[in-house]
Amino acid sequence: MTSPDKLIIFDTTLRDGEQSPGASMTKDEKVRIAKALERLRVDVIEAGFPIASLGDFEAVQAVARVIKDSTVCGLARALEADIDRAGEALRDANSGRIHTFIATSPIHMQQKLQMTPDQVVEQAVWAVKRARNLSDNVEFSAEDAGRSEIDFLCRIFERVIAAGATTINVPDTVGYNLPDQFGATIRTLIERIPNADRAIFSVHCHNDLGLASANSLAAVRNGARQIECTINGLGERAGNASLEEVVMAVRTRRDLFTCDTTLDTTQIVHCSRLVSNITGFPVQPNKAIVGANAFAHEAGIHQDGVLKSRETYEIMRAEDVGWTQNRMVLGKHSGRNAFRTRLEALGVVFESEEELNVAFRRFKELADKKHEIFDDDLQALVSDAGFSAENEWVKLISLRVCSETGEIPKATVVVSVDGQEVAGEATGGGPVDATFRAIESLVKTGSQLELYSVNAITSGTDAQGEVTVRVRKDARIVNGQGADTDIVIASAKAYVNAFNKLLQDRQRSHPQQGDV
Ligand code: KIV
Ligand code: ZN
Repeated sequence: MTSPDKLIIFDTTLRDGEQSPGASMTKDEKVRIAKALERLRVDVIEAGFPIASLGDFEAVQAVARVIKDSTVCGLARALEADIDRAGEALRDANSGRIHTFIATSPIHMQQKLQMTPDQVVEQAVWAVKRARNLSDNVEFSAEDAGRSEIDFLCRIFERVIAAGATTINVPDTVGYNLPDQFGATIRTLIERIPNADRAIFSVHCHNDLGLASANSLAAVRNGARQIECTINGLGERAGNASLEEVVMAVRTRRDLFTCDTTLDTTQIVHCSRLVSNITGFPVQPNKAIVGANAFAHEAGIHQDGVLKSRETYEIMRAEDVGWTQNRMVLGKHSGRNAFRTRLEALGVVFESEEELNVAFRRFKELADKKHEIFDDDLQALVSDAGFSAENEWVKLISLRVCSETGEIPKATVVVSVDGQEVAGEATGGGPVDATFRAIESLVKTGSQLELYSVNAITSGTDAQGEVTVRVRKDARIVNGQGADTDIVIASAKAYVNAFNKLLQDRQRSHPQQGDV
């Protein structure tokens, strides 16, 4: 049992976060995010749902093998095959946790599971015992607890704690609760369950009413000691509680909490960027803590106040969450050491010399095109989803675009598909349209483009453009990202990046659509 003043942070970016349409991640990307989460010192990393697909299994296994300081967790329905698969994926973990769940609300039990409450209790107890044979760290979740009857929750939780569950998770699966009410639920559970002191109470809040962070914090003020959350609030539908929000709320309002996390909060901005770049989900500028404007003061009266005394309008220090001054840090003549040192200050650690070399080569290429390289440019450079070649089945070799007043834009593209170079050309409504048509004519994915957006990473006309695309093929949706000083090239990179994700055979079932 951990001390009562410790608040456990359970990050589920790689599992619930990945359930956002289009946010699927490769094994390699999950490992990169997991390493960043370990540096952030999150206590538990939920790495995936091993039974969902071979890709999920391998990703959880890969994360379990490399992460040493955080507990690695795998999700399993209350089913034998799920639990055994999760146990197998976690076998090499330094510290592993099996997280098993079953729905407990009347609507879920009747409509989805078609099981009686008694059957649900017995299934949950059986599942926890089975998981305990494989791991001494077992979490049980009552899916849709937010709409479950309190008496039933007390009954099922008492039984699963007796069966060996060490963490009891209370999910507000559909984001239906309000803070006072949710806090009271947690208090009642802890007070009424006779063996409540033998488990940590945890919460997992969804953001359908924009209350996920508020509900999580209310729960902590009423005795919960684990929050399940995601970087940037990524997650199913409107997402989960944002890690950065709950962690900084508890830290900033220490006066109101009797517990705190042990996170290194200076890693927050780096994690946010990394997740945004890998998933292709941009962070809105006014997002708390990690949005570009989170520490920017526009009104003259505010600027004046902050200049006189920062505390007049700032409740946190930007540097405590990892914001650095976006100054010109490096240029064409900077060497490898300066490059490595600057990135380390931004929270980026290279795992191998090869990784450093690839990034440094990109930096030199960028420095040839762009005079001043800012911190944001460096972040984009190393967060570029194409950083690892492991999953690059399609590669952009060259692109030529003709765009002229009064003429139809035309793109000539060379790509390598599975090691084979092919060339093609197409016309389109604009240079990006022509480029995408040319690439699709070569790769032939049969996909539809659902979203295209471009953002300047820094200011000035020589800024890098960061392009996000979302493509759909049947039921599969993926996002791709690319950055370049030339936005047509950035667009081509993003499209190719999305194709690489799409073409990976990662058919998966949804963890909350199963029979049990
Ligand atoms: O939202 C939810 O109920 C979940 C559970 C699997 C914990 O994600
Ligand atoms: Zn969830």
